[in-house]
Amino acid sequence: MQPSSSLLVKLLWLPLVLPGQPQLVRSMSNLVDESGICHCVVFLPNNSTLLQQLEQLQSAVQKLAGKYEQLMSRANDYARAIEEQDNQVLEMNHIPEFRNPSTVASRDESPAFNLLRVELEGVQRLASQLNVKGGAADLLHQLQGKVTNASLTLKLLADTEQRSFNALQQEVDVLEGQLSQCEREKEQDQASRDSGLSLAPGSCAHGGLQKVSRPFVLKLNWRGISYKAGAWGRDSAPKPASSLYWVAPLRADGRYFDFYRLYKFYDDLMLLKNYEQWKMGYGDGSGNTVYNNFMYFNYYGTNDMAKVDLSSNTLVLRRPLPGATYNNRFSYASVPWTGLNFAGDEEGLWVIYATEHSKGNLVISRLNASTLEVEKTWHTSQYKPGLSGAFMACGVLYALRSLSTRQEEIFYAFDTTTGQEHTLSILLDKMLETLHGINYCPWDHKLYVYNDGFLVTYDLIFLTTKYQLPIRAAAKRLSGAHAPQKSIRPSRPSRP
Ligand SMILES: *[C@@H]1O[C@H](CO)[C@@H](O)[C@H](O)[C@H]1NC(C)=O
Ligand SMILES: *[C@@H]1O[C@H](CO)[C@@H](O)[C@H](O)[C@H]1NC(C)=O
Ligand SMILES: *[C@@H]1O[C@H](CO)[C@@H](O)[C@H](O)[C@H]1NC(C)=O
Ligand SMILES: *[C@@H]1O[C@H](CO)[C@@H](O)[C@H](O)[C@H]1NC(C)=O
Repeated sequence: MQPSSSLLVKLLWLPLVLPGQPQLVRSMSNLVDESGICHCVVFLPNNSTLLQQLEQLQSAVQKLAGKYEQLMSRANDYARAIEEQDNQVLEMNHIPEFRNPSTVASRDESPAFNLLRVELEGVQRLASQLNVKGGAADLLHQLQGKVTNASLTLKLLADTEQRSFNALQQEVDVLEGQLSQCEREKEQDQASRDSGLSLAPGSCAHGGLQKVSRPFVLKLNWRGISYKAGAWGRDSAPKPASSLYWVAPLRADGRYFDFYRLYKFYDDLMLLKNYEQWKMGYGDGSGNTVYNNFMYFNYYGTNDMAKVDLSSNTLVLRRPLPGATYNNRFSYASVPWTGLNFAGDEEGLWVIYATEHSKGNLVISRLNASTLEVEKTWHTSQYKPGLSGAFMACGVLYALRSLSTRQEEIFYAFDTTTGQEHTLSILLDKMLETLHGINYCPWDHKLYVYNDGFLVTYDLIFLTTKYQLPIRAAAKRLSGAHAPQKSIRPSRPSRP
């Protein structure tokens, strides 16, 4: 029997697949024809059983070769995808951390991945709602395009490596920030149309706090999710010398204040670039604030007030606060190490604390910011460990308590001008359970809150009074001037 030529050639190419049966092929000879083509002929025994076996082997070899090719092409695809992704990462100018490849398989179920997806969905929803409401159409259209692109990138990522995950997260943060900013401006416009109240920066021409906006989550603090305690904000003097943003996460033990960063611009804060980072190393707790370019805080393990010049990070003054309890005595509920809580507002610099004499009730003292001498002290009826935090605005202390893991209530106010106290109920939504440092900025009438590691702001909306500024045009111009996106980097090109 004359075997087929294709079978012959393949058998010659793959001699090793028949290692156990060398006697199967009886003999072979090579022939070269006139055109130099090599012909190979194998003489097989005339035995149909053997021939069947050979054909089975042949088909097994073909299957294996097919599988090998599939695997090779998959490996090539994979290599190409990684290369593309490296390029993308380089374009984003981001140096990713190395991640364990074993996490890739389970990424779809990882909480971070789900969070990102939920965020994107949120942004998309927000964008479409804004669109429906109308106005600022161009900006919104752009934002929507960007968000859609980010979603597409995310879908691509789902099939490839995790390494540009961080870069994408950053991009999403920025987009979200822009959307929040946009929505906030709309809300403010709406609010000022509704109430007719447009407050100039640093102005107290209002009738007290009316409500608080929903939270705007800007970013995770630069040290990461395990730095749950800390504080952040802007200068809380009514006419600050600079518009800088400060961020002070405490060490992961929730007590020791060792480093802080200063950012000149909102966008720098969002992108974690162009910052000054200082080592502090002797702060205690998250009760610090910045007033006229000095940071005021509790000196570690004492009831001393400390004052650091932010332009040089030098300790310029340290002075005990008479009677104040410290070392976690009478801290706020679920915010340990808050013996001395500094606050700045339109009226000056304050410190909020408790004493043994006050039986743990909250005490307010106005300070001379130059000398840290106590100018005047007020006693309130509120037990400090029953509160979750407090801030000052226009000489009025506002105290908070936790209603649930998702909601706080500003339930108490003490007016230092009249010495009178009253109860109120203004609700604050929160993303995570604990509000750590709560700092008010009179310039933009916002609260800067450190929410379990996340940097969050709230807009304060005030009641009108008869003393309200009557000049709408002037007020409008001024209120526009404090919106970070518009005012802080007017001369810079906008981000692509
Ligand atoms: C091969 O063997 C079969 C019987 O097994 C026989 O009929 C046939 O003639 C043989 N062919 C050759 C070329 O020897
Ligand atoms: C063919 O070869 C097999 C295996 O060597 C052997 O068992 C069988 O008897 C042979 N058949 C013939 C017809 O020679
Ligand atoms: C989205 O991606 C497409 C294609 O890559 C691009 O042409 C478009 O400009 C992108 N849109 C935005 C808003 O970045
Ligand atoms: C702070 O104290 C100094 C020294 O006693 C004094 O000169 C200054 O006027 C005080 N500042 C204020 C705002 O009262």
